[in-house]
Amino acid sequence: MARINSHYLKLTAGYLFPEIGRRVTAFLQRHPDARVLRLGIGDVTRPLPPAVIEALHEGVESMARAQTFRGYGPEQGYEFLREVIAEQDYRSRGVKVTADEVFVSDGSKCDCANIQEIFDVRARVAVADPVYPVYLDTNVMAGRTGRSNAEGHYEGVVYMPCTEASGFLPDLPAEPVDLVYLCFPNNPTGAVATKEVLARWVEYAHRNDAILLYDAAYEAYISDPRVPHSIYEVDGARQVAIEFRSFSKTAGFTGTRCAFIVVPRDVTGKDDQGNRVPVHGLWSRRHSTKFNGVAYPIQLGAAAVYSPEGKSQVRDTISYYMENARLIREGLASAGFKVFGGLNAPYIWLKTPGGATSWDFFDTLLSRAKVVGTPGSGFGPSGEGYFRLSAFGERSNVQEAVERIRTQL
Ligand code: MLT
Repeated sequence: MARINSHYLKLTAGYLFPEIGRRVTAFLQRHPDARVLRLGIGDVTRPLPPAVIEALHEGVESMARAQTFRGYGPEQGYEFLREVIAEQDYRSRGVKVTADEVFVSDGSKCDCANIQEIFDVRARVAVADPVYPVYLDTNVMAGRTGRSNAEGHYEGVVYMPCTEASGFLPDLPAEPVDLVYLCFPNNPTGAVATKEVLARWVEYAHRNDAILLYDAAYEAYISDPRVPHSIYEVDGARQVAIEFRSFSKTAGFTGTRCAFIVVPRDVTGKDDQGNRVPVHGLWSRRHSTKFNGVAYPIQLGAAAVYSPEGKSQVRDTISYYMENARLIREGLASAGFKVFGGLNAPYIWLKTPGGATSWDFFDTLLSRAKVVGTPGSGFGPSGEGYFRLSAFGERSNVQEAVERIRTQL
């Protein structure tokens, strides 16, 4: 008998975005003529930068000729990409990261999901609430939690509520934990952490022998010079933090797939005898066993993001999305909504009007304004009564969505 992994049965609902997709499809079946504007999933709409397209063409051409054809690449990623990442994303900011600490992958979602595999099933995990669902669901799947209780919290997980009162920043857990997932700029709230805030986390991790799993997928959206782009800008982070980065939201790779994870050689966990074990070797073992690398043309495209033309084109795209964020933020604020985020992040987090639940507001927004957003409660119980709008849309759609919300709600 093929027994299933019963931990999957603990998962409380379908994954958030497919669930939204199902509801929108059902709505469109009832209202086939409705022109629905999607500000739900954070999926980019601007084309890849021309410098990336040029590099992709070059990569494809090289696959067409026997002399330049490439088969399996290095599982960890081509040196040319890992080197430019280490230099431009880290060393240029005065941060020590070497190319062999960078692992190129096909997405931060997979990296954030997979990292927990190299830690013991008894590891105690802390997550923010609300949270990007992948961190939590993958720990449920792995059997690191009990069942979900009436409030929607899984037993055994340490939740760090992020409320309006705390500026949507998580407090340090009262008890010691082993793994802490942090995401800044935050998905879904758009909150950012200053260096002082991150320094408190690094100090917590040292004190409790914990590891910080730091998701910086949205770092390119930071405009405030006081906000660090990497956790490694904090002294001591190299011993306690693993960082996730992505080309998805930075350079439009959501469909093209390329990301990376930094595992410093200094980060260690403990084995059953209490001996220190470097995590780098374990991640390398996992990555090379379960992954065969990102396609060569895609890595060439990702490297082009760091060329002078690529950098300037990426900056233009980010400005485009951040202007969308401004339009949503200011448009809704002037219509009386309470809005957060959207300043150093492409997400606007708003309080649902009249105390509506997040899903009720989702339904109202869809039926009246034909606008799709993401219910805050889908990110955790503390997201109840909030709603997320994404700034990744086409400008005219964003403008129309704001206008419809202002006039039809
Ligand atoms: C989101 O909308 O939260 C993101 O697009 C999800 C993701 O990056 O996987």
